[in-house]
Amino acid sequence: MASFSIDDVRAIVHRLFIATEEASLRKEDEQKSREVAALVSRLARIRKGAHLVDAAAGKASVGLVAAELLPLGRLTVLERDARRVEACRAAQARVERSLPIDIRHADVADDAAWPASPDAVVALHACGPAADLVIDQAIRSRARFVFVVPCCYGDAIPFAARARAVVAEMSFVADDLIRQRMRASLIDMERKLRLEAAGYETELTELVGATVTPHNLLFCGRWTGTAVRIDRAKARLAALRGV
Ligand SMILES: C[S@@+](CC[C@H](N)C(=O)[O-])C[C@H]1O[C@@H](n2cnc3c(N)ncnc32)[C@H](O)[C@@H]1O
Repeated sequence: MASFSIDDVRAIVHRLFIATEEASLRKEDEQKSREVAALVSRLARIRKGAHLVDAAAGKASVGLVAAELLPLGRLTVLERDARRVEACRAAQARVERSLPIDIRHADVADDAAWPASPDAVVALHACGPAADLVIDQAIRSRARFVFVVPCCYGDAIPFAARARAVVAEMSFVADDLIRQRMRASLIDMERKLRLEAAGYETELTELVGATVTPHNLLFCGRWTGTAVRIDRAKARLAALRGV
């Protein structure tokens, strides 16, 4: 795996997102630089000239730093918050590499916002159900690679109610914190199986240490379309969903 140093990324984050020369990175920018360095190092496996989608992008720090460090051919950014879209556009103007960058003010739930067959979809800290939407849309748009780091685990997540019911059946699990962690793990299990049932080979790793962010679980998916894996995942998914 190629790896980019935190210093490489910090310098780009400063140039793109910090308006003045003198101002130093804030604590949250330092943290973001660590996450982005780790994620862009993972993204380095995609082909030269690749089309990358940064979904639920915020200011698009992942997509824009990737555009500077990797030989991407095209970048599409999807973000629903107008102020963050504005911040993306301001940062886009400071990108030094020349490539088409399409920043779309859109909800990731909107099929029309998604380009067809991108090489890779990345979503860092896609909050709650946004992580599920990104997974579903990456599958629907036939992305070859998927890199998703989910964020919070609230009741708006489609599988949350079923996860709650499964854990509730285990009457021997009495501790609230352990129940909460088990629910989150079941939600992530369902996400992994959903990717595998759609033909992706998946790998789960911790993107950065939990001291950088507790939301550090990275789902990497690569489309292979392997029938055996698909069938096995569909059976496990049905069991998990209780159908
Ligand atoms: C926690 S922030 C992460 C932003 C960025 N990926 C990062 O790591 O810096 C989550 C972002 O997802 C956006 N978001 C949440 N749900 C969305 C949706 N359904 N469609 C598009 N953007 C969404 C929010 O507006 C917010 O900018």
